[in-house]
Amino acid sequence: MPGAAPILVDKLLAISRALAGHVDPGAALRATAAEIAALIPHAHMDVAVLLDEGRSHACYETGCPTDWGALAEHPLPVDRSPVRAVFRGDVPYLLTGDALADPRFHFDGALDGPIFAAQLRSRIVVPMRARGDVVGSLNISRHEADCYDEADVGVAQQCADFIAPYIYALSQAEEARRALLAESAARNREELLRVGASKLTEGMERERRRMAMDLHDQTLADLARIARMLSSLRHDGVAGVDALASLEREVASCLAELRHIVDDLRPGVLELFGFRDAVEAHLNRSVNGARPPIAVRIADRSGGLADALPDTTRTALYRIVQEAINNAVRHAAPTGIDVHIEARGSDLYVSVADDGRGCAAIGAAAAGGIGHMRTRAALIGARLHLEPPDGRHGGTRVAIEIGTGAVAPSTETH
Ligand SMILES: Nc1ncnc2c1ncn2[C@@H]1O[C@H](COP(=O)(O)OP(=O)(O)OP(=O)(O)O)[C@@H](O)[C@H]1O
Ligand SMILES: [Mg+2]
Repeated sequence: MPGAAPILVDKLLAISRALAGHVDPGAALRATAAEIAALIPHAHMDVAVLLDEGRSHACYETGCPTDWGALAEHPLPVDRSPVRAVFRGDVPYLLTGDALADPRFHFDGALDGPIFAAQLRSRIVVPMRARGDVVGSLNISRHEADCYDEADVGVAQQCADFIAPYIYALSQAEEARRALLAESAARNREELLRVGASKLTEGMERERRRMAMDLHDQTLADLARIARMLSSLRHDGVAGVDALASLEREVASCLAELRHIVDDLRPGVLELFGFRDAVEAHLNRSVNGARPPIAVRIADRSGGLADALPDTTRTALYRIVQEAINNAVRHAAPTGIDVHIEARGSDLYVSVADDGRGCAAIGAAAAGGIGHMRTRAALIGARLHLEPPDGRHGGTRVAIEIGTGAVAPSTETH
């Protein structure tokens, strides 16, 4: 270490011992804080490390915590650093007696908030180099003004030269870890969407086949019967009142059946009257004629939050609720079904609870309606839970939570 006084060599060796064994650049820096403070007293010290071929920088700090600490996990563009002049090599170092008033640290978009928030007046900024290139800077600060001089800059530079290779290598490893995590998160998201979309397509194909069967077995059969009745009336040449009345009944029931099938295809009430009314209409239609009767209740404390969702999200949510209601009616033999719609912060929460026989046996891999509910929820980023309702014996509650990015006023309608 040419030029280093013997006392300094000791201290630098102590810094080296402190660095050893750390795999995280922040922890490595913190481990050296006491040794560096013995050479240059400070209230705050940080290293800014260039990443991404010098386009962004991370920051690791010790001493009083500041907003720069967040840059350890979330690097930002290098142009916003108050010490960018050192990164660029425009100046060999920065030394200031009062950084609050020093224009070199302040410009449009500068991340200079911590200088004011933590009152970092006296500052030394020296470059860190690896293989001859500037790879970052060591920044040392005190709250009081005019604490440092050129001699301190020399000592700071020696500390920076000493720790630069360690901290730089560790921060490169950190960057690789972050890139790996981001890549695997993106891959998981893509895979979830790919599987979800293909499951949903399969599900829609099945629904389409079911609808074709409904049309074939029910409506076509009805129309064929009506056609036969008409042809026999034409053949007889007379149309009695009774025969016409029966024909009218047949046509009316055929129309009702068709309307049912079309409603299933396109949730028209949802588009015309909104989420709450569409759910209520489906609820009433589903329990209509149930024996024994099923009591239904719907409570909306969301202030219409569901109708602020994008159309496709709202339709998916409606489909999930529709299947939860269908399942309660078909499988639970309940005496009642309650639907709750409410705002929880910026989340919309919707639940369908029945007091029927319960569905403890449903596995995570359920492939039918419940599988579709899960897929639809995943595709719109909603959380779906199937659970026993609170404070009841038996029964099932299907709960869906979805972020809306908005806070709705709290109103209640029944
Ligand atoms: N609310 C409920 N109460 C009791 N059992 C339920 C309830 N919901 C679902 N189940 C049980 O879970 C099973 C799976 O439901 P799922 O909706 O996946 O299929 P499904 O209703 O049988 O057929 P589909 O594909 O037409 O929806 C049902 O067959 C039923 O046994
Ligand atoms: Mg079902």
